[in-house]
Amino acid sequence: MAILPIYETPDPLLRQISKPVAEVTDEHRKLIADMFETMYDAPGIGLAAVQVGHPIRILVIDLQEPEEEGGEPVKDPRVFINPEILETSENDIPYTEGCLSVPEQFADVMRPDRVKARWLDEHGERHEEEIDGLLAVCLQHEMDHLEGVLFIDHLSKLKRDMVLKKLAKMRKQGRVAA
Ligand code: NI
Repeated sequence: MAILPIYETPDPLLRQISKPVAEVTDEHRKLIADMFETMYDAPGIGLAAVQVGHPIRILVIDLQEPEEEGGEPVKDPRVFINPEILETSENDIPYTEGCLSVPEQFADVMRPDRVKARWLDEHGERHEEEIDGLLAVCLQHEMDHLEGVLFIDHLSKLKRDMVLKKLAKMRKQGRVAA
């Protein structure tokens, strides 16, 4: 396994539309293992293949939530290949999002609190599930990456400019990689 470099905004690669996976191969499984290692190392809870330089429709998510409040985080790695949203709830909720491609920046984004999704796992098996809570937020955030969309695109221009200015300042100060 290997830790891969993470592409950061404003890299134009992040704006590419990711291509569907025709058949899940060992090469994809190797990439998925590297994506998990990269995500845990960052650390983060979700990563799209495009963020490590591969514009293909693969996401990894692990919320690493403790079983009980204050407990040890429990690993729950999930792989989403060619994910599709089939239905969304009418109820939007705010969540403070961040992104490894917009390092150290956080802002509230409104998204549906529940989605019905369909995807393939790393063995090419099909899944269909109703997802809610943080996993639903995270899946929608990662799926945005497949369309070249970042969470800052959901903000007002004023708010987005503020976030990008803060990021530029932190880079100048060497607090995040330039
Ligand atoms: Ni992201």
